[in-house]
Amino acid sequence: MPEIVGKPIDRVDGRLKVTGRATYTGERQIPNACHGILVMSTIPKGHIAAIDTSAAERVPRVVAVMTHLNAPKLNLKGPDQGKDEAGPAGKVLQLLQDDAIHYANQPVAVVVAETFEDAVYAASTVQVRYQLEPHQTDLAAHLHETHTPKKAGGGDEPADSRRGNVNAGLSNAYARLEHVYSTPFETHNPMEPHATVAVWDDPAHLTVYDATQGVFGDRKRVAMLLGLPAENVRVISLFIGGGFGSKGPTWSHVVLTAMAAKIANRPVKLALTRPQMFGSIGFRSETHQSLAAAAKQDGTLTALRHDTICQTSRFDEFVESASLSARMLYASPNNSTSHKLIRSDIGTPSYMRAPGEAPGTYALECAMDELAYELKMDPVAFRLKNYAEEDPEKKKPWSSKSLRQCYEQGAQRFGWSKRSLEPRSMRDGNKLVGWGMATAVYPTRRSAASAMAKLRGDGTLLVEAGTQELGTGTYTIMTQVAADALGLPAGRVQFRLGDTDYPQTPVSGGSQTAASTGSAVHAAVQALREKVVQIALTDSQSPLSGASAGDVIFDSGRISLRSNPSRGETLQKLLSRQANRELQAEASAKPGSEQEQYSMYAFGAQFAEVKVDPDLGVVEVSRMLGVFAAGRILNAKTARSQLTGGMIWGMSMALHEHTFMDDRLGRFVNNNLAEYHVPVHADSPAQIEALCVEEVDPHVNPIGAKGIGEIGITGSSAAVANAVFHATGRRVRDLPITVDKLI
Ligand code: MOS
Repeated sequence: MPEIVGKPIDRVDGRLKVTGRATYTGERQIPNACHGILVMSTIPKGHIAAIDTSAAERVPRVVAVMTHLNAPKLNLKGPDQGKDEAGPAGKVLQLLQDDAIHYANQPVAVVVAETFEDAVYAASTVQVRYQLEPHQTDLAAHLHETHTPKKAGGGDEPADSRRGNVNAGLSNAYARLEHVYSTPFETHNPMEPHATVAVWDDPAHLTVYDATQGVFGDRKRVAMLLGLPAENVRVISLFIGGGFGSKGPTWSHVVLTAMAAKIANRPVKLALTRPQMFGSIGFRSETHQSLAAAAKQDGTLTALRHDTICQTSRFDEFVESASLSARMLYASPNNSTSHKLIRSDIGTPSYMRAPGEAPGTYALECAMDELAYELKMDPVAFRLKNYAEEDPEKKKPWSSKSLRQCYEQGAQRFGWSKRSLEPRSMRDGNKLVGWGMATAVYPTRRSAASAMAKLRGDGTLLVEAGTQELGTGTYTIMTQVAADALGLPAGRVQFRLGDTDYPQTPVSGGSQTAASTGSAVHAAVQALREKVVQIALTDSQSPLSGASAGDVIFDSGRISLRSNPSRGETLQKLLSRQANRELQAEASAKPGSEQEQYSMYAFGAQFAEVKVDPDLGVVEVSRMLGVFAAGRILNAKTARSQLTGGMIWGMSMALHEHTFMDDRLGRFVNNNLAEYHVPVHADSPAQIEALCVEEVDPHVNPIGAKGIGEIGITGSSAAVANAVFHATGRRVRDLPITVDKLI
């Protein structure tokens, strides 16, 4: 059998999806279920003075109306609500326990009715009278009211870092710059809205169908808040229509659905509306990023400083860790980074695809472009000049780094050598043409995970692990990893996921699913393989009886000897002599000492071409190329989809996305897909290509995959912004780059 890992095989769940047979959470048909609708606060700060639900209760077929006056009282364990026990994705929630309003779009009631329509109508009749308090939501007006967070990043990195002497490095230089770059609030807009179905099997046992990126984290958080042992809660999430981080944490509506189901004494299905997704389930904070950099005439960096200020809520802490990449990307001897937070009357910001790195690489990679221009140096050459051969912050070797190849292959394929350095020097007819590039980088993470492998009597392999399918291709790549480990064709492998009844796995966040759960799947099938070999060698009826383990090969559902292929039998035949005609093995895989020995990142080089109308300022992105080094690629087709999806989102960050906060009202105003611009097909580049360089990394994890869910968005917005500068000579340091900023 040739290896299946790496091959661009079609999604194993593709047919189910395109025929509508893949059941998403909101589509679950549960007997006797009724429908819940949230009512959200319309003010950002204050108290509920009165809430009148009488009209809603009179609506025919309304089953229950839950407010802070009648909601079950929970043991929240203090202001932090024990959130850290749920891991990095734990959030402080608003669960109708009091009359306080902390942000606009905070849940204030749940209306439950027989039908969705009844619930929507009844919810519209709930009258809330508020006692307003002064609020603040404006980052720029509060830059001096900051505090330093306890940590930054997904791996608990320190908020600040320092090496060498930045001021000395800045003053003894040939060229230097200091600028502020800013990015706006941005909101995840997965096609599938957040949805939860809560079913109390009995007063102490709960089943939750949830659109979640982490079934086990969800279980832990829901159980903790409801005062149940975790094993009494089962969470199921078979398909997710995109999450991008917004479905990583357990948000308030999940727990509220379970509470409403308790009050209604019926299963309750609840989905958020699109407007309700703006504020209550996380978003990307605005960032204010101050960068200073300096270099010698030959391009050698002498100093780099990156200070980020972003927002968090009044009641919880989340850091958009935008300064992290500046610690490790370049070999600058004098370097400092920091993160500071401003408390605002907003919902808690959260993980959004490449949290930190996405806006951070925008600012850093624009600053590097600017410094290259100061030096009249080619931006690729400038980056190669400052290439970090080891992690300059941690002083550790990279587990692998093929960024040089990414720059070189990317430049060659893009035709970079034909670029003229001067801005406004390239044209296509009347249009100004610009070429820009930037570096992509994302840490390689891994968590402990387990999986179960079963060889069934018909010779097919079933593998189960709790993990999630966000649309990224988890079903497919796990099938490939399992198939190769037992020499089976993919069609004879079934992979099941998304259920806390399966072995434990981490949240699908931080681009770690392939590395973590993939390693567990590999380990489980390896363990099963060893069992099969042992039986084949010791069973006197086996044609392999008495042979040596090293001589055994698995190929296409047959086990035989390499030295004598005719000595062998099918797996079915072997299993037919086993009790239950079945064999199974469970295994775990977890990170080890390699985590301390090496610094682990995926890298890439992004290139973009824009064409700008000089009169109207309209920017068309005509070409994008990303060349990535992310270890072993498990499926070339789903990888391409992940990488180009990230690149397009980065382009969208550069040109379109902006959640407008009306600071007078403290509300996001463009809370819909008509006014929050996500790129449609016509906005996407006519030519977009994502390539991966060959990279063998023996250190990151047993399957050698670095994870590709997030690196595609990093550097992508900077490549577009740098291309816009090259086209127009206009440096926009405030995203998004809209027409008004260019004319
Ligand atoms: Mo990702 S933003 O860590 O789901």
